[in-house]
Amino acid sequence: MKVLVVGGGGREHAIIMKLAESPRISKLYCAPGNGGIAKYADCYPVAATDLDGMLALAKELAVDWVFVAPDDPLVLGMADLLRENGFKVFGPSKAAAIIEGSKVFSKNLMKQYGIPTAGYEVFTDADSAIAYLKEQNSYPTVIKADGLALGKGVIIAQNEDEAVAAVRSMMEDKIFGESGSRLVVEEFLTGPEISVLAFTDGKTVAPMISSMDHKRALDGDNGKNTGGMGTVSPNPYYTDAIAEECMQNIFLPTVNAMNAEGRSFRGCLYFGLMATPKGVKVIEYNCRFGDPETQVVLPMLETDLMDIMEAVEAQTLAELPMQWKQGACACVIMASGGYPEAYQKHKAIAGLETNGQHKKAAVYHAGTLLEDDVFYTNGGRVLGVTAGADTLEDALAKAYAAVREISFEAAHWRTDIGKRALEAKG
Ligand code: AMP
Ligand code: GLY
Repeated sequence: MKVLVVGGGGREHAIIMKLAESPRISKLYCAPGNGGIAKYADCYPVAATDLDGMLALAKELAVDWVFVAPDDPLVLGMADLLRENGFKVFGPSKAAAIIEGSKVFSKNLMKQYGIPTAGYEVFTDADSAIAYLKEQNSYPTVIKADGLALGKGVIIAQNEDEAVAAVRSMMEDKIFGESGSRLVVEEFLTGPEISVLAFTDGKTVAPMISSMDHKRALDGDNGKNTGGMGTVSPNPYYTDAIAEECMQNIFLPTVNAMNAEGRSFRGCLYFGLMATPKGVKVIEYNCRFGDPETQVVLPMLETDLMDIMEAVEAQTLAELPMQWKQGACACVIMASGGYPEAYQKHKAIAGLETNGQHKKAAVYHAGTLLEDDVFYTNGGRVLGVTAGADTLEDALAKAYAAVREISFEAAHWRTDIGKRALEAKG
């Protein structure tokens, strides 16, 4: 079997390294890929959002399967185009990907089908949003752009000035383009966050091992929101009781709601959850694997990912037993200095082996470039240094030991990944 993976970050690197374990796969390709991925798959410079270019590449390479990993091509309908042309695809249709592509859609879906989430109002013009904020006068409050915004479309406003500025920047200055032409003003919730990725074929939901992201740039959950600075799995807040509550109140109702809307979801559905004092609520849905959650979830998977992809596409997931490793996994993101704001690129990376890995940890490349056998930084998030062990303490120790032996100019990482999870375990 020949498989093309669409995307070029740490998530795609983790997907490719898992697929490389499958005895059923003879050849792996990636577009656009990156320096580290190039050691495991032939990479082609086709942008992840280039639907026609990707179809042409899939035809040229005569692949059997395409794994569409990022959100934007899915929301644009890449999975549909490939399926219409006879390819097997892992990834939801455009009609189903709207669950991530529009926050207004997902909030209305949850309200209509009684799925627990934060209370909210939708606005299509700045004046009514601001009038509502003034009338509510309750802070913090959460303001979300309707469409995709590279994970930056959520602003938690601490006061009226911040809230008004957020509304104006989204709706009048259009900092997220058309994504901000509608927005959601949402109740601020509190509690530990839990990420659960789940395979679903539209009939069965098979949750993967749970994980915890660390979204802020700096230690102690300070600094700006980022795409994610590190992850651990499993998430200690995801107890068996919470898992059962989520299955009954959230996972199954969501899949059923999508079916009822004629938007059956086949692929990986990501539940961003918060365990609030009033029960678990949905913070967001994603229509794909999370990044950097994938980097600590897929290494724990024992079942052949190719078998799962087939079962999802054939809607036979219920018949496939899924095995997960015991123990824990930790991923520490090494980022470029300045990220998530302006940062420099093209800094040589020292401390990696020729295959881009490290003897103490798996290194999932997020933003690297390979030139004359040297890896260079080529993005805000550069590497996801990942280790598994019997305990979370040991997984973290291994990951951080590798991080200390990898270097590039102005490298930045959080030193407290997993701290909250360790405290929760007591
Ligand atoms: P999202 O992109 O929707 O996941 O939001 C990014 C982050 O903002 C989440 O991971 C939460 O930490 C935070 N957040 C989003 N919505 C809320 C909310 N209603 N209450 C509190 N925090 C939130
Ligand atoms: N780590 C959060 C996301 O993938 O959206």
